[in-house]
Amino acid sequence: MENLRVLELYSGIGGMHYALTESGVAAKVVAAVDVNTTANEIYKHNFPNTPLLPKTIEGMTLDDFNKLAFDMILMSPPCQPFTRIGLQGDISDPRTKSFLYILDLLPRLIKLPRFILLENVKGFETSSARDSLVKTLKECGYNYQELMVSPTCLGMPNSRLRYFMIAKASPGSFSFHTTSEIQEGFPQPADKVLLEPSSPISPSPTSTAYQEEDHKEDEGGILYKLERAQDTERKSSQNRDQSLRQISVYLEDQGEGEMEQYLLPTKTLLRYALLMDIVRPTCRRSVCFTKGYGHYVEGTGSVLQSCMETDMEAAFKSPECLSDEEKLNQLSRLKLRYFSPREIANLMGFPKHFTVPKNISTKQQYRVLGNSLNVHVVARLIELLVS
Ligand SMILES: C[S@@+](CC[C@H](N)C(=O)[O-])C[C@H]1O[C@@H](n2cnc3c(N)ncnc32)[C@H](O)[C@@H]1O
Ligand SMILES: *[C@@H]1O[C@H](CO)[C@@H](O)[C@H](O)[C@H]1NC(C)=O
Ligand SMILES: *[C@@H]1O[C@H](CO)[C@@H](O)[C@H](O)[C@H]1NC(C)=O
Repeated sequence: MENLRVLELYSGIGGMHYALTESGVAAKVVAAVDVNTTANEIYKHNFPNTPLLPKTIEGMTLDDFNKLAFDMILMSPPCQPFTRIGLQGDISDPRTKSFLYILDLLPRLIKLPRFILLENVKGFETSSARDSLVKTLKECGYNYQELMVSPTCLGMPNSRLRYFMIAKASPGSFSFHTTSEIQEGFPQPADKVLLEPSSPISPSPTSTAYQEEDHKEDEGGILYKLERAQDTERKSSQNRDQSLRQISVYLEDQGEGEMEQYLLPTKTLLRYALLMDIVRPTCRRSVCFTKGYGHYVEGTGSVLQSCMETDMEAAFKSPECLSDEEKLNQLSRLKLRYFSPREIANLMGFPKHFTVPKNISTKQQYRVLGNSLNVHVVARLIELLVS
């Protein structure tokens, strides 16, 4: 088969490009498009031979797109208009404009791309932008499947539940049975090829893989931390789930000195200790890392307890009776630290050879990684799309 010509829109740091490579599909990225200078520096650093267009998508004409003669579009449009915490501007949000522009261009291309893959946050599935996407794909005669997939489906100890659309131009059809409903997890029958040969675990159907942090509507009592019984139970059942790998697999093999820079500052410990999601290297779970990680603590990603000699329960026991000094004393014995950008990249499936230019700050790295995607999940979806 000849190399597929791939257009990577909203390319960021190239998560889609890594997934494409990992999928093993014979393909080359003929153009990557993004406006963000930081992300673009990282992209160029890792893919020096890929044409990267540092401009807005709306700034490209129909003619520009036709000239690229692409067979596949890989894209993850900005998600802020669709997140539940965001303002939910949906199609009225200026950040959706470029996406609507793509939908408008698609039917007018000289040659429809054979394959389209779109990634977005949970929440996108109920948006008008999603309805417009489906409408356009139908009008253009695509076969498609919508899915919600988290890396836990692949045995990775990190939650990142995302919406995916995979679409194939007719007469192409899928190797699995498509439905108009959004599928949870990878379609069955899944092939048994594991993406990480080092970890011979295949997630069982009874695994806790689909249990996500999102389902915490019902009320419950608060335990030693600001956490409900259901949350505690869900977390410990994930930690016992042998289909998920341990966090330790993804940690950097650095001396303690190297990791000192990631220790949580005193101020943060005192103010936010009760809100943090704390994991140990032996845990099999962590929450989704988002762009505010390393800066805001609540809901932006898990922190790591790097000292195992201290019991967490002890450190949190009736914190209201302790003075600040005593609290701090207890907490600092846990040696809580942020995951490093490299560790987050590992948990998101980026290959070892992914690196960032020296002058990109840690904070900037957290930001661009938080905007990116799980490479293994997308690689698997590209395989499904093309096979
Ligand atoms: C969700 S991130 C995509 C991340 C990417 N998949 C990765 O692996 O890093 C969205 C990206 O779209 C870019 N972007 C947003 N609006 C854009 C526009 N109108 N034209 C081009 N790029 C845009 C942002 O700079 C950001 O890098
Ligand atoms: C690039 O993206 C990062 C992460 O979202 C953001 O913090 C930064 O302000 C953006 N820079 C530009 C030039 O848009
Ligand atoms: C990093 O260095 C490059 C090359 O010297 C420069 O163009 C870029 O602006 C720098 N980026 C940052 C974020 O400092």
